[in-house]
Amino acid sequence: MLSHLATKTQKTISPNILGSIKRNLRSLPPFDFKPAPYYGPSKEQVLKDRLAHVHPSVLLYYEKPIMIVQGKMQYLFDEKGKRYLDGIAGIVTVSVGHSHPRVIEAAKKQLEKLAHTTTIYLHPNITEYCKLLASKLPKKLSHIYLVNSGTEANELATQMSRLHTGNYDMVALRNCYHGMGAAMGLTAHSTWKQPVPQGFGIKHALNPDLYQGAFREDDPNAVEKYLKHLEHLILTGTAGQVAGYIAEPIQGVGGAVVMPKGYLKNAYKIIRSHGGVCISDEVQTGFGRTGESYWGFQKDDPDLVPDIVTMAKGIGNGQPMGAVATTKEIAESMGGAIHFNTFGGNPVSCAIGQAVLEAIEEDGLQQNCRITGSYLIKELERLQKKHSIIGQVRGKGLMVGVELVKDRKTREPASAETKKVAELMKDNGVLIAKGGLYGNVIRIKPPMCFNKLDVDFLVDVLDYSLSKL
Ligand SMILES: Cc1ncc(COP(=O)(O)O)c(C=O)c1O
Repeated sequence: MLSHLATKTQKTISPNILGSIKRNLRSLPPFDFKPAPYYGPSKEQVLKDRLAHVHPSVLLYYEKPIMIVQGKMQYLFDEKGKRYLDGIAGIVTVSVGHSHPRVIEAAKKQLEKLAHTTTIYLHPNITEYCKLLASKLPKKLSHIYLVNSGTEANELATQMSRLHTGNYDMVALRNCYHGMGAAMGLTAHSTWKQPVPQGFGIKHALNPDLYQGAFREDDPNAVEKYLKHLEHLILTGTAGQVAGYIAEPIQGVGGAVVMPKGYLKNAYKIIRSHGGVCISDEVQTGFGRTGESYWGFQKDDPDLVPDIVTMAKGIGNGQPMGAVATTKEIAESMGGAIHFNTFGGNPVSCAIGQAVLEAIEEDGLQQNCRITGSYLIKELERLQKKHSIIGQVRGKGLMVGVELVKDRKTREPASAETKKVAELMKDNGVLIAKGGLYGNVIRIKPPMCFNKLDVDFLVDVLDYSLSKL
């Protein structure tokens, strides 16, 4: 199943050997692929034009930016053909691998026939795709609305929660990211908020962060205290009845903060007892990335079922897509007016979405996330013993965070150091992202075809970069 991912041929290098070669960086794992020659404008020209014409709020990473012009599976290539190991997958978006052959084929085939008509006519792609996607979800989440992004999916989920319950107040968690636009009101992370009117009827409960949060891992009642806070917020900050509750099972942008065991299940109980519906934002945690389960909400309890699931990013492997899955009853509550989305359900997007679901199965990617992800975490924990700046290694599958702190006791965020490490890693061929409220968490969320040799290289480059601080 995983044959083309090279996992079978790799050799693991023992920690002892690694210790002895610690300053001789390994080279990138072998990869039999030659990028096409690049004949476009120079990097300098692209940067100049970007500064002149692209909106300045479009974020550019790195002090010395790079230009990426091609990708293949877990690797990216710059304009000079230099190869990078992609440890962040276009911000957790490239799920099955850059330019995956199955996805290319599906897109090409559909583009040659029909690119777009809108959903006012019948087309088999939308029905086939929604049927297949629904088969990956718990049975009661049978009805799907297709959109183009995670922001749209969460806006629609909010709208549905309000229409279905007749209540107005929504509860989200601090340190969450659910999008821009109207979804900015759900998002609770100052880096991603503008001082504009937003968040009407939205309240933010304490996020159960057992490392940096108000109640920590040394408190045996920490989870219970977070749940009490949630209920208190409903009783004090709302009319007592809520429309819905939204949470990421692992906070992505927030720095891979994993909801502790028992938290989600009990939070759902509290919300339902106050009339609300429960939304799981699976934009980052969905489609097998967390390894042990297909969806993040199943991570501790396979029987836990939200009322609404929102998806985007990995759903399209780079194609702008999003989806909201819900029950027939909740979906029917929107029957008062037509809800229209020009591109949602586009035949090309549906063909791509279907190819992604098939590739996840055929390439055994959920299983790969579980196996490679636990190896990654183990290797990072080994590094933690060596570098005191690593405060915590956390995550599940191939959704991992490494929190850097100035002092393990005070847990003061090492934000400037994290920025430097990201730059050094990039210079040495590995792309990762920063996250967390203070930008002090290294986020490792590669394409799901990442293999153990890739882990060895990434960890080696991280080790080297940390030693350069
Ligand atoms: C958990 C989560 N939800 C929603 C979104 C918003 O998705 P989009 O950027 O496609 O609007 C993101 C984007 O990073 C996300 O990480």
